[in-house]
Amino acid sequence: MHEHRESGGVAVAQKVHPKGHNPLGVKGVDHIEFYVDDAEKWANNYLNGYGMYRRGYGDPKTGLKGRRAFVVGQGRINFLFAEAAGKGPEAEAIRAFVAKHGGGVKDVAFRVKDTAAALKHAQAAGAAVVRPLDEHEIFLGGTIQAYGDTTHTFIQRKQHGIFAPGYENVAGGIEDGEIQFAMVDHIVANVEHMDEWVDFYHRVFGFDQRQHFDIKTGRSALMSKVVGDEDGYIKLPINEPSSKNSQIQEFLDEFKGPGVQHIALLTPNIVSTVREMRAQGVRFMDVPDTYYDEEFRKRVGEIKENIEELKSLRILVDRDRADGYLLQLFTHPVFGRPTLFHEVIQRRGNSDGFGEGNFRALFEAIEREQAKRGTL
Ligand SMILES: [Fe+2]
Repeated sequence: MHEHRESGGVAVAQKVHPKGHNPLGVKGVDHIEFYVDDAEKWANNYLNGYGMYRRGYGDPKTGLKGRRAFVVGQGRINFLFAEAAGKGPEAEAIRAFVAKHGGGVKDVAFRVKDTAAALKHAQAAGAAVVRPLDEHEIFLGGTIQAYGDTTHTFIQRKQHGIFAPGYENVAGGIEDGEIQFAMVDHIVANVEHMDEWVDFYHRVFGFDQRQHFDIKTGRSALMSKVVGDEDGYIKLPINEPSSKNSQIQEFLDEFKGPGVQHIALLTPNIVSTVREMRAQGVRFMDVPDTYYDEEFRKRVGEIKENIEELKSLRILVDRDRADGYLLQLFTHPVFGRPTLFHEVIQRRGNSDGFGEGNFRALFEAIEREQAKRGTL
């Protein structure tokens, strides 16, 4: 069954599938692991700029091989920053990743019901196991290969409240800041051949294709298919470039291959979150004044937020359903190269899109601004 709709000139096809298909027993995103040059520096960057709290620490003295690592997070979000420590294959793997890609996402880890069963199923479905079952008294882990140098680790904790063997808990304080995040909303991959990975997630994870976008506005030329679990808690859009000057092609060139393009963090209050992130020095994409012209009111209709306030913070809005809309904003790239960035997103009502209407709205707003300046 397909449901078609038009959203700002972008064709959307939504597939609806029968319930109950989750062969790996995936329960959610457990954490996202970054390989970086300086783990403490990057972890601190997220404490200050993204309102995260310290949660864990590990190094060779606490029992980790070849790495020094910091875990920070807020709500259900856990980010793990790892740098190479000393010699040996584990340290060399981190060094090689950072030399090739710059900083970036190495692993998107999922919590599963049963790691042994998940690995067995994934392998039978054609996935390559890169770390076999690691059975520990508090924890069962194992890892499969995904796109580029990205991997997926499966995690089953027998004892809760501890991140993983070799890590110590760190007191993070009370979560009382103005920057509020609850969970990862979606994780976007840039790859060369989208369908290959749509097939991988279908075959291995039982994830179905939920939506499809074909966007053709200047540097945004891309095709995207969204795969995810039946309940909509895990949403993994997969992009491929559809022109040589596409920002997706630029990512593939700069990251030296496929990888995670952006991680969207779900907030219950984007206004206070973006205001404080800006105050902390986080840099966001430029949005022209003309984005908030008459066109804006026509496109988004009735919304709860004050439009002047949204305009002053440069927050974008996309009405993706009659009974729902989303607010979003994108940061500048995190690691120096034009590779990974973040999205701050708030959903209202039954919003289930990704801001596809904003590609066209931003493109047209920039054209109106250029026309105003007489440069068009
Ligand atoms: Fe997004």
